[in-house]
Amino acid sequence: MPTASGTTDSAPLDPLVAGSPGAQTGVPGETGPTGSQGQAAGGALTGAQGSAAGAGKAGPALAEAASTAFRTALQVVAAVEPGVAEAIGGELANQRRQLKLIASENYASPAVLLAMGNWLSDKYAEGTAGHRMYAGCEMVDRVETIATEHAKALFGAEHAYVQPHSGIDANLVAYWAVLAKRVEQPLLEEAGVTHVNDLPQQAWDRLRRSYGEQRMLGMSLDAGGHLTHGFRPNISGKMFDQRSYGVDPETGLVDYSAVARQAREWRPLVIVAGYSAYPRNLNFATFAEIAEEVGATLVVDMAHFAGLVAGKVLAGDFDPVPWAPVVTSTTHKSLRGPRGGIVLCQQDYAPFVDKGCPMVLGGPLPHVMAAKAVALAEARRPEFTAYARSIVANAKALALGLQKRGVKLVTGGTDNHIVLVDVAASFGLTGRQAESALLDAGVVTNRNSVPADPNGPWYTSGVRLGTPALTTLGFGEAELDEVAAIIADALKATSPASATSKAKYAIDAKVAEACRRRCAELLAAHRLYPEIEL
Ligand SMILES: Cc1ncc(COP(=O)(O)O)c(C=O)c1O
Repeated sequence: MPTASGTTDSAPLDPLVAGSPGAQTGVPGETGPTGSQGQAAGGALTGAQGSAAGAGKAGPALAEAASTAFRTALQVVAAVEPGVAEAIGGELANQRRQLKLIASENYASPAVLLAMGNWLSDKYAEGTAGHRMYAGCEMVDRVETIATEHAKALFGAEHAYVQPHSGIDANLVAYWAVLAKRVEQPLLEEAGVTHVNDLPQQAWDRLRRSYGEQRMLGMSLDAGGHLTHGFRPNISGKMFDQRSYGVDPETGLVDYSAVARQAREWRPLVIVAGYSAYPRNLNFATFAEIAEEVGATLVVDMAHFAGLVAGKVLAGDFDPVPWAPVVTSTTHKSLRGPRGGIVLCQQDYAPFVDKGCPMVLGGPLPHVMAAKAVALAEARRPEFTAYARSIVANAKALALGLQKRGVKLVTGGTDNHIVLVDVAASFGLTGRQAESALLDAGVVTNRNSVPADPNGPWYTSGVRLGTPALTTLGFGEAELDEVAAIIADALKATSPASATSKAKYAIDAKVAEACRRRCAELLAAHRLYPEIEL
């Protein structure tokens, strides 16, 4: 585990990294203004906010400082463009009003948010720490090194690359690293050169054809896979010749023997494991075995469940890092950092992954790397483990609460942070109708396909729910049962408004109003950013 002294040697950033495990003094709940629950979850925004900022007894003072910082920052913005300042304030008001069950969203701590709003944004720093195309990058080097060391220590990875601007970028870096190592490198060696610029035209033409002939195997979209796993609307589907594995039509679960059969037939260069909407855990040891048998490289996209890996809820065969040569993630979902991506890899992939810029990225975003460093430092604290456990306990409570009210769930439950509701089977609604009705009831969700979805990917038959955000606010299992009751009541009071439209719906106004009141009560007990008054 890297120490703060291994990555920093002077003052300004030290308070942020000093809180690696062991340095934490604040007991969640002792430091902040609301006291009660962030605690169970190690919530970054309620009682534990002070500790998220590295605080202990300094918690209340830091909370006040955060409030002042945001208030003042908005004054400065408003002096130039008041509309933007108003929208920023309005977003906080909206987020405070709505019960957020979007599985891919969370609430980053003020420390994470504040690390982004500064002059690091102004710096160009193409390259990697110590090897830049620009002069004057010492501070960016420090920030990138801190983030990298935290990522390696947090996930037990041999190498980390923290520059990707988003999840899609992280996946692109990963895919091109595999292509560079397994397709480009052998051809360079054969031609006796070290750089593509030195290839004779004929060999370059051959290499370009070769890039385009490679195969991928990934999870189908309706089973919960992601567009970046080789689907035609995304660049990954234009780069690779892709085939999908789905789920068992009876159980909704991944059938590993079917995946192995497909892999043997298709012989892909890359097998992608990971999901956006699969409510169960994946066995990465089994995926690794399949990949090895067919000579594929396993790339795991843990964008959704990185927080559960960080919090050690997913361990052993369910932790992708020991099993996959390349693992990608977003930093803003269950990991609770800034919007962005990271790539973790085994050492032999490091030189290829590190060429993300200029392969598919331009200059890094140093201010976002700073925020990633802060978020990763937070995720290394013991209370993040409690948070991750609570995410799953809450998802199970939500699933149970829905089921006991007669709601049908894809796979019949959850192992992770996702609950996928089959609203067509449960309520005779499309996902689009249910999503809109739930918003009327004060609950923000997003519609999602279910396996073999008869309503297609736009209207869908499902609604995806996730617990990372409410868990950050400090919600516990009893409250998730009440959330389940609100959702079931709202959807039982909703019907399609016409026989032909998959979008129009009608919800009983009184029920919607009552649901909104119940949401408001829950949110009043778990105020978002309680320390911040604008
Ligand atoms: C599994 C998975 N991978 C990649 C992404 C893309 O992330 P981003 O929106 O940051 O590009 C997502 C986003 O939803 C995702 O769920």
